Amino acid sequence: NKEYEHILVSRPAEGVGLITLNRPKALNALSSPLFKELNEAAEELDKDESIGALVLTGSERAFAAGADIKEMKDKTFVDVYRNRFLEDWTKITALRKPIIAAVSGYALGGGCELALMCDIILASPTAVFGQPEINLGVIPGGGGTQRLVHAIGKSRTMELTLTGRNFSAVEAESWGVVSRVVSEGEGKVVEEAVKMAALIASKSQVAVQAGKEAVNAAYEMTLAEGLRFERRLFHGLFATQDQKEGMSAFAEKRKSTWNHS
Ligand code: CAA
Repeated sequence: NKEYEHILVSRPAEGVGLITLNRPKALNALSSPLFKELNEAAEELDKDESIGALVLTGSERAFAAGADIKEMKDKTFVDVYRNRFLEDWTKITALRKPIIAAVSGYALGGGCELALMCDIILASPTAVFGQPEINLGVIPGGGGTQRLVHAIGKSRTMELTLTGRNFSAVEAESWGVVSRVVSEGEGKVVEEAVKMAALIASKSQVAVQAGKEAVNAAYEMTLAEGLRFERRLFHGLFATQDQKEGMSAFAEKRKSTWNHS
């Protein structure tokens, strides 16, 4: 794996790529150089045929404490507008492979938004989420106001955005922001996320990617369009060897072997 300055990249299990944000002194504040590396590493793992799913994590203390305030402080409207500030953050949402966020500690501002860009979020009981941008005289700029409305509805999103109050792992779980809170213990949430990613990576990758595409379509399409899109993808999978293998293996009472085509 390539050496990066602000992130670590490893392969902790078969088929799994792990990206760890690594700016401990700044609580993993998401500076432009960090995001550039994150995008590069994620794209590389997305292209790598030996990888089936990704995990993104931070440290025990912070997943990420937001966009880098010190970097933003003196920027003008023209700077951020002309340089399309934060536009490259959306690259994470364009990955074909599933990406799981394993969140411990602070996931604030852009950190919360980065977790929301991932396909699945697992949280440690120590996780603290929030959109505190209002306290800096701005609003979320990495998708928070939009993705939170989908996840938790308008009233809660409005409260969080306008008061800047943080919310806990327990709240995040009960609202459905995270799929579950993992039991206490250092590294536990990453361990669980890697296990989940390895399980996903052990499935037919064509089917996994189609499943991700279909679920994501629910954000963009009407119900009728989404149902048609899902059905067409389902039909399309009948052109794959993995569909033949999966269904034959069931009928023959044996374990299927995927060749991902
Ligand atoms: N940007 C830059 N540096 C940050 C940072 C950030 N978002 N968050 C923390 N740091 C730095 C601190 O400045 C500090 O650096 P120094 O040691 O050089 O002073 C270091 O990380 C440790 O932080 P604290 O001393 O503040 O640690 P704490 O435990 O007392 O507090 C915290 C932790 C509550 C998370 C606090 O650091 C904090 O409030 N951080 C900012 C959170 C925030 O407002 N995030 C939103 C950013 S705006 C945004 O994200 C816009 C968007 O929508 C994309």
